[in-house]
Amino acid sequence: MCGIIAYFGKKNVAPILIDGLKKLEYRGYDSAGVCLLNNGKLQSAKVKGRVSELEKLALGLNPANIGIAHTRWATHGEPNEVNAHPHFGCPAGRDPATRDKPEIAVVHNGIIENYSALKEILEREGHIFVSKTDSEVLSHLIEKFYDGNLENAVVKALKLVEGTFGIAVLCSKENKIVVARKGSPIVLGVGEEENIVASDAVAVLPFTKKVVYINDNEMIVLTEGNYSIKNFEGQAVEKVIDEIKWTATEIEKKGFKHFMLKEIFEQPNAIENTLRGRIDSENKIKLSIDIDFNLIKRIVIVACGTSWHSALIGKYLIEKLAGFSVDVDYASEFRYRNPIIGTGDLLLVISQSGETADALAALREAKAKGAKTLGIINVVGSTISREVDSGIYLHAGPEIGVASTKAFSCQVTALLLLALYLAQQKGKVISKEFFDDIRDLPQKVEETLKQSDKILLLAEKFEDSKNFIYLGRGLNFPVALEGALKLKEISYIHAEGYPAAEMKHGPIALVDSEMPVVFIATKDSTYSKILSNMEEVHARGGQVIALLSETDNSVSNLTENIIMVPKCREELMPIINTVPLQLLAYHIANLKGIDVDKPKNLAKSVTVE
Ligand code: M6R
Repeated sequence: MCGIIAYFGKKNVAPILIDGLKKLEYRGYDSAGVCLLNNGKLQSAKVKGRVSELEKLALGLNPANIGIAHTRWATHGEPNEVNAHPHFGCPAGRDPATRDKPEIAVVHNGIIENYSALKEILEREGHIFVSKTDSEVLSHLIEKFYDGNLENAVVKALKLVEGTFGIAVLCSKENKIVVARKGSPIVLGVGEEENIVASDAVAVLPFTKKVVYINDNEMIVLTEGNYSIKNFEGQAVEKVIDEIKWTATEIEKKGFKHFMLKEIFEQPNAIENTLRGRIDSENKIKLSIDIDFNLIKRIVIVACGTSWHSALIGKYLIEKLAGFSVDVDYASEFRYRNPIIGTGDLLLVISQSGETADALAALREAKAKGAKTLGIINVVGSTISREVDSGIYLHAGPEIGVASTKAFSCQVTALLLLALYLAQQKGKVISKEFFDDIRDLPQKVEETLKQSDKILLLAEKFEDSKNFIYLGRGLNFPVALEGALKLKEISYIHAEGYPAAEMKHGPIALVDSEMPVVFIATKDSTYSKILSNMEEVHARGGQVIALLSETDNSVSNLTENIIMVPKCREELMPIINTVPLQLLAYHIANLKGIDVDKPKNLAKSVTVE
């Protein structure tokens, strides 16, 4: 998704903006641009393509200490230089309607839903548009309302706008940057006589750990060595300065070829961080959840993508261990019907970023209908984490790879803790052995990671396959979905995840000698059933890849493509079993020469609906 960075301080701004954009690259983008303000003149550069290409142009501009920059992920208008941000008003003199106006430059994240109507009015008034974007209406609107005060012009413009925005605005006549948000994240980094604004704390981190999160309908005005925060009515808003707990080195690759690979290998440590302090010496689960579960009759989990897969696992765990009824919904579907939810329901929202637009919208809908809300979130201070009634942070550290890996295993760990917490609230006794096994989990993931070289050999064998099927049952069905998603998003190979028993109801028609079928067949309660499914695929010439519990030799007559994982209790299997599938997807994509951290068309954090 789009990224914003803006700086006002004493330093040369171009390298700061470029470094910030590089930190935002992981979010996904197709074009980029900067605009600097120097002695009453705006100077800009834009490119279609990579920030490294923009860098040469930006560093060639006259030095300045005020500037804004953007990475664009196209929604309205194809990715090209004209549609890249910043967008401008009418350059002085180009049109009589704006001849006496200053130049305005805007970078925008979000979508302006009523842009066509606004554009029509502005064009009738003489404004000349050059791009196909929705964003360009903002620069013309601000220009229209400018009467010597940029803040006022921005507020007047934003009051006409429907949709979502995070914006940063420059004006050639004022030494300031005006930033505003509604529905699109913005964070302010507070430095010594210099301040930086970004759409993502990761871009602020190398600069300062002191941050202020702003809410919808608030704006920041950066002036020389200072900042102020107001609402759209012009009233000052008191804010606390928070401290980001992540360190700048956590967003380095540390010798790994890709962030994704580093994050796969970080899982033992990340899981330990999710568990830390949450199981006491008497095996009581400690979670700071301020919700009376005696009043909760049903839990509804909403999430997207990989987080939705962990939600499916959460349903199994909570229903099995705690006996609560759980529904799971795609966040994007939940809010576009009339969901039956209200008092007595708990809406649990799972999101790595805490900024996914559909998850946020679902949360707001459920809150408005009277449900209690709980979040399982990785990014501290994110919008969802601030809007839920209670939350469980993953403490997985920053996840930069677009393909989610460590966040998934930590989400499932957090869901397991929640299931056990709810079980204990209901007075259910959980065995000591269960807790011992949980404490061993990071070690078991570490052992699983040792399979990486063996999995690479399988990747070499199957990298040219055009399709894959992933099959699992029970708790391993969402693992099959997750394995398929990982493969398709980074290797661009078509892959389907299915409940193994459903295969006979359709997908089996696809099976032939060209079709690799990955079975997640570790020793759980459905083991014998899935072996039968394996026989069925083998009988039709399919190429079986089997994920088995170690020392299981029972399918050596069906396949030589075997990955062994450490034995563990059923409830922990989804975490262990997903790791080899992450590695299989990674190795295949890497062999294909794909930049796995920046897969085409994808964005790390999907902040538009
Ligand atoms: O930040 P979130 O967990 O809300 O993100 C949800 C999905 O966009 C995300 O999991 C996506 O599917 C990943 N690319 C999967 O690897």
